Parts: sequence; structure tokens; C-alpha cells
Amino acid sequence: MTKPLAYLAPTLAISIACLVAINGCSRDTQPTETIATMAELPENIRASVVASPELKLGFAVYSRNCVGCHGIKGDGVGPAAVRLIIKPRNFTTGEFKFRSTPNGQLPLDEDLNRTIRQGLKGSSMPSFQFMPERERNAVIAFIKQYSPKWTDKTQKRERVILPSSAPDNLLTEERVWRGRFAYIGMGCHNCHGMTGRGDGPSAFALEDDWGNPVRPYNYHRGAPKGGSTPLDIYRTFRTGVTPMPNYQSSTLGLVTRDLKPTVFNLLVPQEQKLIEPYVDSLATMDEVMQWQEKSPERYEAYSDDRAWDLVAYTLWLREQSKPVGERSAAIWPHHPGADSSPSTDTPPSTGN
Ligand code: HEC
Ligand code: HEC
Repeated sequence: MTKPLAYLAPTLAISIACLVAINGCSRDTQPTETIATMAELPENIRASVVASPELKLGFAVYSRNCVGCHGIKGDGVGPAAVRLIIKPRNFTTGEFKFRSTPNGQLPLDEDLNRTIRQGLKGSSMPSFQFMPERERNAVIAFIKQYSPKWTDKTQKRERVILPSSAPDNLLTEERVWRGRFAYIGMGCHNCHGMTGRGDGPSAFALEDDWGNPVRPYNYHRGAPKGGSTPLDIYRTFRTGVTPMPNYQSSTLGLVTRDLKPTVFNLLVPQEQKLIEPYVDSLATMDEVMQWQEKSPERYEAYSDDRAWDLVAYTLWLREQSKPVGERSAAIWPHHPGADSSPSTDTPPSTGN
């Protein structure tokens, strides 16, 4: 058994856990030892918990580590929630952000496991990486009790087809600049801003599925919530993170050479010149339309390649935000003209 203290992220999480922990923070999680009492649980849930040893353990883990934020009713309004800007998830609606399933579907257990193991960077959701697997599985079984969706047979959980590895040598100049082109061509800048600072014209009035205000990810401020490996980033925008749509092949395939006038209209001549050679390697709209009809595999491959361009661009922007000495990859000039104060020497406020 590990000590809960060891697997809580520092700062806020610990103080909350200690606050709600009548018995202190350093004891092992035992099914009999809970902070919130079972009597406080909604009646229907209590009945299931009493009948199942796994759910009993899950409840013990939950009441020790999660209840302060997510609440005894699972509605996301635990005692600490009022003080949090990004609100804890309400489990009663059965809606989740970080999934390997399409927007609107329930996540897979492995998605929930990843969220709990890694935490959600940039929010108060801590990482429980040292929590024993058995306890993580038990708490997952327990939080499912809060929404009837989990037992509704009509609810689908279809894994979006995701690649098992990223293309080799992802961070090439070619991919990054084509990614830049796709980023503007697909309108990512409307929310994320011209240089990825989360300050686009549509950025300020966004709400998530629960009606809480949410700001687009600032690429210059620490890691994305859903993980920062190339595969994590690929999954995130293939499956969507409400209110950000999921980007399917039908949209990605529209990134063609034909978008050049639209995209270049938003770029200074210096940047147009930088990007142009790589844009010319893209297909034309006519070609893409033909593939879509006659050669779906080729169409899929083309769309997928555009998704990887966007991943490369995301990684490159993150790289740009690091202090010069800490950058790993080859670095090309920051967007010329797009940003008068590139973040070249400013360390991000929350690191990875
Ligand atoms: C310090 C507060 C805090 C604690 C403690 C906490 N969470 Fe969270 N949790 C959050 C916040 C805030 C979010 C929403 C983050 C967001 O939407 O960006 C969240 C989101 C989640 C999500 C939703 C992920 C998704 O895909 O939408 C799950 C699942 C979750 N937490 C499980 C847990 C479990 C299980 C525990 C205890 C082992 C726990 N949390 C402890 C604050 C907390
Ligand atoms: C409608 C506005 C909107 C558009 C358009 C949009 N996004 Fe987002 N995006 C968001 C919001 C809001 C978040 C933050 C969600 C959160 O933190 O819960 C986000 C988050 C992200 C993240 C970080 C996810 C994480 O794990 O934290 C990435 C990467 C991203 N967007 C990439 C893109 C790309 C690439 C495009 C264009 C293809 C795009 N976005 C278009 C609103 C948008």
C-alpha cells in the first residue's frame, strides 16, 4: 500500500486532502476507513456500494482523495470547488473531455485511468501516479455509479481508430510550416490566436458542456491537459475537447493548396515566403475530391498526414516557449511579423 500523501500533487491538492481528511493525510486507504461517510451518499449509490467489495474500496479511495473537489454527490461541487476557476468535473452527467472515443460518447476505462494517473495539467486535477492500479480501477468503478449512462446499454463507447505510433522524425521544417498553414486554414487561430496564445477573437466567450467558462489552450504555457506526447496531442484533436470540435478526416482533408489565398491573406509577406515551398507540396482540392470518391485509403492517408502536421506545429510552438537553452529540437525563426514580442527568452509560467 502506498501512502495517499505520496501520490497527491503538491500544493492545493494536499491541503484539500488534509482539510477533508479527519484522520490526517498519511494513512493507507482501507475500505473501512473513509473520510466522507457512506451515509452521505445518494441512496441508490449507497445500496450498490454496500453490496460490492470493489465499490467499497472505490468509495474509500474517492472519499479520501477526490471528494473535496468532486463532492460526495459527484456533482463537482465539493467544499474546495468554489475556490477553483476551472471547475471539477460533474460526474452525474456522464460527460467527459479526455477520450479515445468520439465527442459525446463515454470515455474508455483506459482514458479515465490516464486522467487519474497523469492529472490534468493547468487545472487543479492532481496526478495520482503512485496510486496502486487496483485502487485506480476501484475508484473508476465507483465514479461510474454517479451517472446512469454507464449502465445504459444504448450508450456506445467506440474507440476512434488511433495510430500506434507517430511518424518518424516528426519535427521537420516541412511538417511544422505545413502545420502552420493547416492551423490557419482550419481556423484554429480563431480560438487559439495567431501565435497560439489562446487569445483569438472567439476565445473569450467559450463555455464547456457544463456551462463553465473555458479558455483555449495557450501553447506557450505548459503542457496540454490530455498529455503532451505526439500521440496524446493527435488523440486530443481527433476526438475533441469540448467546446473544441473533433477534427475528422472530412475536415482535415480540406487542407489543400487551394486555401493559399485565404491563409496568406492573414500572413505577412516574410512568413508567406517561408511557408510557400511547403504549401506547394500539398494536394489540390480537385485531387482530394477525387481520392475521396475513388480511393478512400489515399484520402484517409492524406487527412492523417495533415493531422500530424498539426501535431508537429503544436510541438514546435511548445518548444518555442521554452528558454533558449532548454529547447531540444532544431528551431526555425518565430512567426515573422505575427508577434512583436516572441516568447524566445521568457520561461513559461507553468512548466512541464
Ligand atoms: C484539487 C481538486 C481535485 C481533486 C482532489 C481531484 N480532482 Fe478530478 N478534476 C478536478 C478538476 C478541476 C477537473 C476538471 C479539469 C478540466 O476540465 O480541465 C477534474 C476532472 C476529473 C475527471 C474528468 C476527466 C475528463 O475526461 O473530463 C476525472 C475522471 C477525475 N477528475 C477524477 C478524479 C478522481 C478519481 C480523483 C481522486 C482520486 C480526483 N479527480 C481528484 C479537480 C480535482
Ligand atoms: C471553438 C474554439 C476552438 C477551435 C476552433 C479550436 N480549439 Fe483547440 N481548444 C479550444 C479550447 C476551449 C481548449 C481548452 C479545453 C480545455 O482546457 O478544457 C482547446 C484545447 C486545445 C489543445 C490542448 C488540449 C489539451 O489536452 O489540453 C490543443 C492541442 C488544441 N486545442 C489544438 C487545436 C487545433 C490544432 C485546432 C484547429 C485544428 C483547434 N484546437 C481549434 C478551443 C478551440
